[in-house]
Amino acid sequence: MSTAHYDSNGNVAVIRLDNPPVNGLSLELRQGIVEGIKKAEQDDAIEAIVITGSDRAFSGGADITEFGTPKVMQEPILTTAIHYVETAKKPVIAAISGNCMGGGLELALGCHYRVSTPDAQMALPEVKLGILPGAGGTQRLPRVIGVEHALNMIVSGTPVPAKQFQGTPLLDEVVDGDLMEAALAFARKVVADKMPLKKVRDLKVKHPNPEGFFMFARNTIGAMAKNYPAPLKCLEAVEASVKKPFDEGMKVERDGIKQLMQTPESAALRHAFFAERKTSKISDVPSDTPTRDINKVGVIGAGTMGTGISINFLNAGIPVTIVEMKQEGLDRGVEAVRKVYEGQVKKGRMTEEKAKAKMDLLTPSLSYDDLKDVDLVIEAVFEEMGVKEQVFTKLDEICKPGAILASNTSTLDVNKIAGFTKRPEDVIGLHFFSPANIMKLLEVIRGDKTAKDVLATAMKLAKTIRKTAVVSGVCDGFIGNRMINQYSREALTMLEEGASVQQIDKAIEKFGFAMGPLRMADLAGGDIGWAIRKRLYAENPGMKKNLIADRLCEMGRFGQKTGAGFYKYEPGNRKALHDPEVDKVVDECRAEMGITPRKISNDEIVKRCVYALVNEGARILEEGIAQRASDIDMVYLTGYGFPVFRGGPMHYAEQVGLANVVRDMEAFDANPNTQKGFWEPADLLAKRAAEGKGFDQ
Ligand code: NAI
Repeated sequence: MSTAHYDSNGNVAVIRLDNPPVNGLSLELRQGIVEGIKKAEQDDAIEAIVITGSDRAFSGGADITEFGTPKVMQEPILTTAIHYVETAKKPVIAAISGNCMGGGLELALGCHYRVSTPDAQMALPEVKLGILPGAGGTQRLPRVIGVEHALNMIVSGTPVPAKQFQGTPLLDEVVDGDLMEAALAFARKVVADKMPLKKVRDLKVKHPNPEGFFMFARNTIGAMAKNYPAPLKCLEAVEASVKKPFDEGMKVERDGIKQLMQTPESAALRHAFFAERKTSKISDVPSDTPTRDINKVGVIGAGTMGTGISINFLNAGIPVTIVEMKQEGLDRGVEAVRKVYEGQVKKGRMTEEKAKAKMDLLTPSLSYDDLKDVDLVIEAVFEEMGVKEQVFTKLDEICKPGAILASNTSTLDVNKIAGFTKRPEDVIGLHFFSPANIMKLLEVIRGDKTAKDVLATAMKLAKTIRKTAVVSGVCDGFIGNRMINQYSREALTMLEEGASVQQIDKAIEKFGFAMGPLRMADLAGGDIGWAIRKRLYAENPGMKKNLIADRLCEMGRFGQKTGAGFYKYEPGNRKALHDPEVDKVVDECRAEMGITPRKISNDEIVKRCVYALVNEGARILEEGIAQRASDIDMVYLTGYGFPVFRGGPMHYAEQVGLANVVRDMEAFDANPNTQKGFWEPADLLAKRAAEGKGFDQ
């Protein structure tokens, strides 16, 4: 229940915002503020008003549960509530602790005075949703902390601790002790000294050289913002705070937010914001499902993944026992972990003592017996079912009852792996992405028999190690790799038809991907894709082969690690260079396939790659492998470099219109070089397109 409580303390009225967890400014809160101000004004015994929140938050800004509902626009909207505060006939003092962000900071700026704890966090983070602060933040913040600092905060959205504002008109007092006592004392002083009703709007924003400053800022921000319109709109609004009277500046702000709300970039960022919050919700696993305690973790395999996975837990202060087969491999793994921490120390991100403390949490071992008392063990050994069988049989013998047994497999059947134990309910897939200590994504693979509390524990643990966890059912490649295989296949098919290596990568990079599909293949290692293709050819006898890619692999061109793949590489350099040798292979293969190359547009390249993702995503959704389309988007935004400003493949398809996507797919299907059935729309996609709906409806 969200509400604003009204109390009086002698001659001071206290309006306390109460909408856990962060006092989002819901309609009830906005109403409570307005009513509180009116009540205090009418009560002759009241001489001042304090608005406050909880220890955790004065207010974190808009109430996100109201987004997309009529309540957002219902009066009093925040600007109205702030108007009541600012024009109140009695002094209003904001007493600030915890988060004071977005609308929360705007509300505080509408008060006549502000008292804060030193560690309260102040921010205007709206830019992160592709919009700008819409309740006066762009006009009032520059008036209290200066144009440059305000512009920085508004364009970056980054929180700043209150103590940094001591001595500026943003804060009248920074208090170490009891906030409420200090705020009440301050209010009484305002009354006793007959201090004026100070309005931030009346302050002048000064800058010695506004023209020069804004020209410089416009260039810098424009270059950094690239695909995002919001930062430059923020700049326009802040510029208005210097050059125009307050009310005109407010109009610039209002127009700016109206325009930004309509942009696809803001729609994508808002989608991603909500998508991230939904991933942890599992329909048949209620949020109060009990979880198991994870105080000690075992990792098997100290290779690329095992070391990266271990670092996540060490960072979270959880001890890790890492097990290898041979001393040499173990030493190499421990060294790899040490290097990461040394790097942190060198960059000044960590003290030497802290790095040492992290390393002390790591116990290297050559014996599985040392995993007897771990609460969770994650296996990251070679990707072979036989090896996994050995490992899980052993773990079943050694691990204590209730320990969670996890596999980091990227392709193998987690149900089969669970079947190697007598406790399949304790087995789960935890699919990290490389580099595992950096990538945000964690695919949590739910086996047919995985217990609900094991799943709940994995999701909770993901939060502890700061991952975005997405649940996936068991299938070949799970959500992410199953889709990327289709995308890569389509890129290779276009290479056969006439597009060049460079054109394909450039078109996809221009769309916004961090890296085109062929550069990505060279980075991952051509042998990995080749092994997958060979397995698929064997399993599906009629399957069209990707001749060019296969031929390059036959030549030993596995990408960066062999100095040549779709590109060539100078020793020790990752820069992808055009290789005429590849052009020759491409020409030969086209001739062998009887293909006369045709000109392919960049638009077609993007559509065929992205819609290949979308169609497979729709199949994954209809099979129940993913819970919701937005989960698929999170996989792509956090694990595959899909451009955030496009919101993920499923959201992007919805923006394009599912019917338009299907129409294009039908046209691609007419292409003679296309594998039969490849472009047949998934049933769910066809259905939703015909209904004119999106995926998650
Ligand atoms: P890797 O070859 O770098 O490391 C595997 C390590 O496991 C080696 O050091 C090996 O000595 C050790 N090992 C093998 N059998 C063992 C056993 N029985 N007991 C103890 N140690 C043993 O391989 P990588 O890349 O770390 O992959 C490991 C697993 O992670 C595989 O299942 C792979 O599919 C999966 N994976 C790999 C990703 C990647 O990008 N490399 C991404 C996501 C998952």
